[in-house]
Amino acid sequence: MSACEAAKITRSSQSVSLFNAGPAKLPRPVLLKLQKELLDYNGLGYSIMELSHRSAAYARLNADTEQMLRESMSIPCSHAILFMHGGGTGQFSAIPLNFMETKGRTTAEHGVETRTADYVVTGLWSSKAAQEAKKFGHINMVCPVPEKFTYVPEPATWAPSIDASYLYYCANETIHGVEFPEVPTPPTPHAPLVADISSNFLSRPMDVSKLGLAFAGAQKNAGCAGLTIVIVQRELLGRCDPRCPVVLDYGIVEKHSSVYNTPPVWSLFVFNQVLKWIQETGGLPAMEAMNKAKSKRIFDAIDQSGGFYSSAVEDKWRSRMNIPFRVGGPNGSQELETAFLTGAEARGMVGLKGHRSMGGIRASLYNAVTEDEVFLLSSYMEEFMSANR
Ligand SMILES: Cc1ncc(COP(=O)(O)O)c(C=O)c1O
Repeated sequence: MSACEAAKITRSSQSVSLFNAGPAKLPRPVLLKLQKELLDYNGLGYSIMELSHRSAAYARLNADTEQMLRESMSIPCSHAILFMHGGGTGQFSAIPLNFMETKGRTTAEHGVETRTADYVVTGLWSSKAAQEAKKFGHINMVCPVPEKFTYVPEPATWAPSIDASYLYYCANETIHGVEFPEVPTPPTPHAPLVADISSNFLSRPMDVSKLGLAFAGAQKNAGCAGLTIVIVQRELLGRCDPRCPVVLDYGIVEKHSSVYNTPPVWSLFVFNQVLKWIQETGGLPAMEAMNKAKSKRIFDAIDQSGGFYSSAVEDKWRSRMNIPFRVGGPNGSQELETAFLTGAEARGMVGLKGHRSMGGIRASLYNAVTEDEVFLLSSYMEEFMSANR
């Protein structure tokens, strides 16, 4: 690469506003700290990437990260924190393998076993989770699946099954932009709640004590890919299917303090630095206030556009993290949307293209996306509308 090309990349990487859905933007101070530590971790004289996971330094990093997460989210002692591999998709299998218990019921797919779990499907990610869980037992949909994934059927109307081992939902559907504003309260009795919090993790305070398990891939609000964070109620450990791969067995991971096998040392370090940044920035209440203000700015631009921009998601279920919207009417105009994206890129805003299954635009406003960057986007939305309506 010529010096000229390198200079161009350096310039552009500083001036780009990244609205990626994940992997996503990291806070600038965190990136600078990572750059500094890359060659010499904590004065050891070698890189964090070269650090043994059996060293005292790693044990400290692991414990410090766990403690910071526990404090940030007020995670009670009843819940263990695990650092795992395999991403959210790994958890789609780990959850049924660890939790589905044989309770006796006859079904066409599985004969006389069987193991049952309740699922709430509100978008592509919960749909994929339910699909994967079907390999391991009977899946009961506790409510009708919304045709276009634009809302959540009210939790009070859900119909949990009496023999379910857990009740699964996705707290924020990254693709469809549907978010639960709080941990839901289904009708009683119901099995322990299991939540996919991958894309709203650390974006607001969350009452984890109401959850049997929550999991998140790190690559949105918590750092970079490679690390999966699992928060699990200790009393649910120990019921794992003996055929479960050892790396997905919560009991084993917990017993070995998340170092049964080689952990993603670098990704954990990044997560540690992100947690420090969150604490220094005012913790989850500050993240929530910022995220409320940022998402309001974009929703205001949509709602005040007289239909030029449109969001299909019902107000109550609108996500603060991922905002899919159309340009030029509810079904979008391909010409306008292409022009919108081209203009955005010319102004240094990237990552705004909607998911391939949805089309349109999607603005992901994770913690690291600044209010200035969101202002840039909303100003551009106004400018584009004035020029094209
Ligand atoms: C809400 C949600 N759950 C699960 C996943 C799957 O995560 P992974 O790609 O880490 O397996 C994603 C990925 O973006 C997601 O957004």
